[in-house]
Amino acid sequence: MSRKLRLTALAGALAMGLVACGGSGAGSSSSAGESAAPEDLTIGVSMPTQTSERWIADGNAVKEQLEAENYKVDLQYAGDDIPTQSQQVDQMITEGADLLIVAAIDGTALSSQLQAAADANIPVISYDRLIRDTENVDFYVSFDNYKVGVAQATALLTGLGVLNQDGSKGSATGPFNIELFAGSLDDNNAHFFFGGAMDTLQPYIDDGTLVVKSGQTDIEQAATLRWQQETAQKRMEDLLTSSYNDGSKVNGVLSPYDGLSRGIITALQNAGYGPTITSTPTPMPIVTGQDAEIASVKLIADGVQSSTIFKDTRQLAEQAVTAAKAYLEGNEPEANDTKTYDNGVKVVPSYLLPVQTVYKDDIQSVLIDSGYWTADEVAKGQAG
Ligand code: GAL
Repeated sequence: MSRKLRLTALAGALAMGLVACGGSGAGSSSSAGESAAPEDLTIGVSMPTQTSERWIADGNAVKEQLEAENYKVDLQYAGDDIPTQSQQVDQMITEGADLLIVAAIDGTALSSQLQAAADANIPVISYDRLIRDTENVDFYVSFDNYKVGVAQATALLTGLGVLNQDGSKGSATGPFNIELFAGSLDDNNAHFFFGGAMDTLQPYIDDGTLVVKSGQTDIEQAATLRWQQETAQKRMEDLLTSSYNDGSKVNGVLSPYDGLSRGIITALQNAGYGPTITSTPTPMPIVTGQDAEIASVKLIADGVQSSTIFKDTRQLAEQAVTAAKAYLEGNEPEANDTKTYDNGVKVVPSYLLPVQTVYKDDIQSVLIDSGYWTADEVAKGQAG
């Protein structure tokens, strides 16, 4: 426990008469008077980047919800630069943070910072991306990331007509040419997404319904460092040149994140696909996504992108805040998964939230009715 937390616990113990009278040293009355009310506690919130609007929404939601509980918040964005994030977390610790909430850029790169946090008894909550290879992470809040991958692959199959929306067998039999994209290999989630997707797609690849024309089916080949839109656009351009210069067409693209989907769609549009998935003679391929970023929700509304996976960042923030409060009040947060997320050193107790697939017809009921985006934002393709 941090100093302030120790004091709170001690004050509580004194109040309950648990501390033996007449003891010396620790427990002396000078410290017992100090309180660790929320307004005396600071929570360091370290987010990866502001280039993706989802992390801005996450940062804002965490900050607002913590401030509503009267905690002080030090929110920092690291510009997707690992040394910057290390330095920001270091600084939070030296400035006396009482708890850290961290969405890591590289899940393995913060070991020395987290050792310092552990030495100072500062609890660490790993936010959406699992921090790996250290015992100094106390709790993980995220979504069911394997199921995200399954949902993305299912949305691809549904968009192609191989499956119906209710999961039953659709009328389309293919063969369909598809290409596969994965996220950043240093993000634990990328492996869960790709794993869930490939477990779902493999039977259809094996029976010839789906053809990965480039042959690039390994996560290393499909990966996109730092989840960069431009990198995905460039790889899609390269795939079109290398594998589709014989007049064949791409029918579907597995994309794990809306930012990548936008890069992929740009490459396809530049090559004459679309503009929409119903255009003739060369429709936009079925492109999946994740995060319901507003620019992509507009693309879905316009029939350009086929689907996204909605993960409600407000709920994720709420879980992070609930876990933070538990630690700061001297309790353990409640986990709903204690098996899945082995970080290489230990299984990190987790709270996982469900996810929802969004096609064009779901925008109103899932995103607008819940207040996540307004109809006006969807129409503009811009927040605010
Ligand atoms: C992942 C996250 C995704 C997406 C991606 C790129 O860690 O789970 O939802 O946001 O990062 O930012």
